Amino acid sequence: MHDFRLPGVIHFGWGAFDRLRDEAEPLGKRALLVTGRSAMKRTGVLDRAQALLAQAGLTTALFDEVESDPSGATIDRGGELAREESCDLVVGLGGGSPMDAARGIAAMAVLEGSIIDYARGKRVERPGLPLINVATTAGTASEITSVSVVLDEERRLKVGVRSPFWFARAAIADPDLTTTMPPALTAATGLDALTHAVESYLSTRATPPSEALALRSISLIGSNLRAAVADGADRAAREAMALASMLAGMAFANSGLGLVHALAHPVGARYGVAHGAACGRLLPPVLRYNAAAVPERVAAVGRALLGREVEEPHEAIESVESLVVDVGVPIGIADLPIVEREMPVLAQDTLVSGSVKTNPRPATEEDARAVLDGARHTG
Ligand SMILES: [Fe+2]
Repeated sequence: MHDFRLPGVIHFGWGAFDRLRDEAEPLGKRALLVTGRSAMKRTGVLDRAQALLAQAGLTTALFDEVESDPSGATIDRGGELAREESCDLVVGLGGGSPMDAARGIAAMAVLEGSIIDYARGKRVERPGLPLINVATTAGTASEITSVSVVLDEERRLKVGVRSPFWFARAAIADPDLTTTMPPALTAATGLDALTHAVESYLSTRATPPSEALALRSISLIGSNLRAAVADGADRAAREAMALASMLAGMAFANSGLGLVHALAHPVGARYGVAHGAACGRLLPPVLRYNAAAVPERVAAVGRALLGREVEEPHEAIESVESLVVDVGVPIGIADLPIVEREMPVLAQDTLVSGSVKTNPRPATEEDARAVLDGARHTG
């Protein structure tokens, strides 16, 4: 048997943003809006969210201090504000960082201590405030999952904290909100979605529903990511990428991920590389590592991506490499300022991640080090 969990409802498609009004209305009287420092103001999305909440009869408090890769301190401050302002609902607005922060803030509004305690293993014993997450990128799928990725500054670690209580009451993915993403962000977030789908498909906890969702996501990305990067106004490509991100999120929220995410978190935490770009760089070297254990499944990734017969895993890996390069992300980590003496600690931090446990080929610290070394000499 297997379990399959999702948010209470997922609103997807052009105009789905308006559903915020109907979803928020029964959930409370005062909402905490959680977002980053500038993008949502610049694009007018924050004003629209406030207007929709006002139409639903809610007042709002604003927490707009979420940095990229939010720290525990940021999330704790947001939780405190939710309590001070007597908010009974949290609405996250933006990409992965604000949506992850909103999830953590909704939790910390009712939990004792710091989110870092939970990142270090404390059990989440009760639900937080109700959460609605509105995605404005197509990649992280944080609107779909139950994870909050938190930067533990003291340990210089990015940790995925999760609880079955933490699925959003409503997830909103409106392709219209993704059309203002510049090409580099479209590429990075799209490669994050691809990595979610591929790692979910190869995961040791993959199930028939998660596999079906992951393969469909890979195929949508294979046919649409280049077009979405080349022309942000291409509505069909934007819609397909938003759908691909959502499907990959549904898959990996249930199957878990793998070694790419385990490596991408320490690389992101130490060198400030955007998460999606880190995933794109590391996906080909990790696929090469995994192909030794699951060649058939790696070939299936290539079939989904290219929409034609692929027999050999190396052909699948090459198809992933050309997609990564075509959208403007280098393969490997050759250009990052990683010094030799940091390699052991990067490998150690990789093994801390829960994502290692669902990688199809077991990985020791030496294996992680070898993959990183390989990634260093690629590209
Ligand atoms: Fe990711």
